[in-house]
Amino acid sequence: MPLDIVTGAQWGDEGKGRVVDLLSEKADIVARYNGGDNAGHTVTVAKAVYKLHVIPSGIIHPKTIGVLGGGMVLNPQTFVDEIQLLRKAGVEITPERLWVSDAVQLITPAHRLLDRAQDAALGKAQIGTTGRGIGPAYVDKASRRGLRVSDILDGEFFAGHVKAHFSEVNRLLTDWYHQPPMAVDALMTEYLGFAEQMRPYVRRIGPLLQNALNEGRSILAEGAQGTLLDVEQGTYPFVTSSCTTSAGVFSGLGLGVQPVRRVTGVTKAFQTRVGAGPFPTELDGEAAQSLRGTGANPWDEYGTTTGRPRRVGWLDLVLLNYAREVNGFNEIFLTKLDVLTGLKEISVCTAYQRDGKELRTLDFSGDARLLSQCVPTYETLPGWQADLRNCRVWRDLPEAARAYVRFIEEKTGLPVAYISVGPERSALIARG
Ligand code: IMP
Repeated sequence: MPLDIVTGAQWGDEGKGRVVDLLSEKADIVARYNGGDNAGHTVTVAKAVYKLHVIPSGIIHPKTIGVLGGGMVLNPQTFVDEIQLLRKAGVEITPERLWVSDAVQLITPAHRLLDRAQDAALGKAQIGTTGRGIGPAYVDKASRRGLRVSDILDGEFFAGHVKAHFSEVNRLLTDWYHQPPMAVDALMTEYLGFAEQMRPYVRRIGPLLQNALNEGRSILAEGAQGTLLDVEQGTYPFVTSSCTTSAGVFSGLGLGVQPVRRVTGVTKAFQTRVGAGPFPTELDGEAAQSLRGTGANPWDEYGTTTGRPRRVGWLDLVLLNYAREVNGFNEIFLTKLDVLTGLKEISVCTAYQRDGKELRTLDFSGDARLLSQCVPTYETLPGWQADLRNCRVWRDLPEAARAYVRFIEEKTGLPVAYISVGPERSALIARG
């Protein structure tokens, strides 16, 4: 009964979509356990590029069941749009192979408006959220006012609850944020329409997943965002509002704690971040531009969800080791090694200086204020000039690229099990 977990080791956007796409080939079920449509997972198959925000990217495999776990917050509009998009692309989507937990919390247009109004009101202290209503939806969940997917199943209750929610947020928007009110009646009609479209997919997920494991079927738990955006372990307060780490799998899927076969940490060969918050190894100018790309390709460093240019920097092994500890990684999936081609030298952060002391591991839990006081210490490795995109086995890589990978292994004590060298499914080196 194998349960495998894939989580991001950085600030999201590590390339988890393609990792899940690869690993889910052999999984019976792929389950998202946190976040909502703030995530953007890109999978490239032949010439088709799929950008998914809520439906697990593993659904592209015809025999895989996709699950949206109760730890998620779900915008029903995104859900129905993605079903249409996948069907148009020829992916079969039926309630037999797409399950939504009845415990998932709903994101409404009111949450989205509130998210933007609240972040804007922070002025210089803005988090730079994706504006998808994630924070307000999790706030409603924690303060026990949230709308759960299960509420959809009871029409009368749902209608009353939705109306009360829109009216309450309207008061906040108008009185506190001085914004125009939402047209509650039109929103009600739209929202109640989603109920019927979602109803066939709703399940009580925990027991279904436990049965699947008991019967020997395999589950791949797909994390959204990354460790450093975790609401507790991340660079607080510049984080998202969910548990992004492997610890979120059990509560987010409604499973009892049990052995996990493999926890795969996904990291880019360098570091990126969208939104505000400390980033010790951040680069600017030309060096940044060469890592970021021009935006002409879907895999350049521009947000899948927001289109914002990502901040970029050198790989930070202090943070990678922190992510290893927090998640219990067994292996690393290293993505985008090809992007480093052409650099004469590559710097890697192996320690921080803070208060006259050297830190090789974080002695605080991500705290943004403390992290912003850390100055990175770098080791420099030789770069390589060869294009890696056609490399398919370890020995195809130039010696300098292999040395870079070995350096990461040595400093983290983890095997780098896979290396991606391009956006296509096949642009991959499996170390075996
Ligand atoms: P929120 O999740 O929209 O509330 O955004 C909170 C922070 O997390 C912001 O800095 C976002 O840019 C960041 N964030 C949220 N989702 C993702 C993601 O999937 N990739 C990268 N950053 C993300």
